Amino acid sequence: ETLIELSKKMPKTELHLHIEGTFEPEQMFAIAQRNQVELKYHTVEALKAAYQFTNLQDFLDLYYQGMSVLLHEADFYDLTMAYLSKVHSENVVHVEIFFDPQGHLSRGVPFDTQINGIYNALKDAETKWGMTFKLIMSFLRHLSEESAFETLELSKPFLPLIDGVGLDSSEVGHPPEKFLRVFEACKDLGLKVTAHAGEEGPPEYVWQAIDQIGVDRIDHGNRALEDDQLIEEIKKRGLTLTVCPLSNLKLCVVNDMKDHPIKTMLKRGLNATVNSDDPAYFGGYMADNYASLITHTGISKEELLQLAQNGITGSWMENNLKEKHL
Ligand code: ADE
Ligand code: ZN
Repeated sequence: ETLIELSKKMPKTELHLHIEGTFEPEQMFAIAQRNQVELKYHTVEALKAAYQFTNLQDFLDLYYQGMSVLLHEADFYDLTMAYLSKVHSENVVHVEIFFDPQGHLSRGVPFDTQINGIYNALKDAETKWGMTFKLIMSFLRHLSEESAFETLELSKPFLPLIDGVGLDSSEVGHPPEKFLRVFEACKDLGLKVTAHAGEEGPPEYVWQAIDQIGVDRIDHGNRALEDDQLIEEIKKRGLTLTVCPLSNLKLCVVNDMKDHPIKTMLKRGLNATVNSDDPAYFGGYMADNYASLITHTGISKEELLQLAQNGITGSWMENNLKEKHL
């Protein structure tokens, strides 16, 4: 059995996935057409040709444009179901999905339209395939604390459907401490907490996510490797890093997949996991992320199995379910 074969058949989890980042150009054009919305790019080819990013912001500009065609509950359902069908075929057994309510509220799409579409697809995938899930509402960090609080208020009728909160969008200049009070309110409501930190931002932002926000997990965390003390703190707290190899390559967080730090993370004793972030934009889903690591980093069978196991232990699934998967 080759490592590629092993990586395909082993049960996998996805812990870092923006549902709006699964919007494939073909589906984007189909939904744009049915909603009579015009896209800035006029063909699938022209849109795909624009997927060349030199940093996070380049990508975000296209990501917000792309999601602007999502208007109705059926759009959110179809988007989510297309993603779930895809990763079901790759043996993903558990997903923890981010959505960006502010990216839709700002366009007049109500909270209930968004969450009902996404949640119904998750429920249907659970019924059909036994795929389990958590739903994470993410705050856009380039917006204000006040906007995050307003979003939290709008989410309150739907809290039974929401497992945790996250922090995403433009990192540099928007440190975790900007949202300290919002996250305190979220924790008081019993929500789990994670934050993108150390993707482009400095180790200081990872420290803030841990010390000030008290995150349960760290999304990306690449730049934590620059600070030995920080590495020790992450290990001491047993925090999982949701690492996204193809995302890191496309956004120039790493310059070459052969230099990807995921093996270093494992060697340093960090609980790294493999995730796809925004697969429609970054050139691949879960299987492609593993395949790229196998092809370019010389990762071993033991390391592959460790990454998959970290995905189970670092997930927010119930303990009895974790035991079942381990
Ligand atoms: N939103 C979607 N993908 C993101 C990423 N990789 N970093 C920050 N914000 C995001
Ligand atoms: Zn992300």
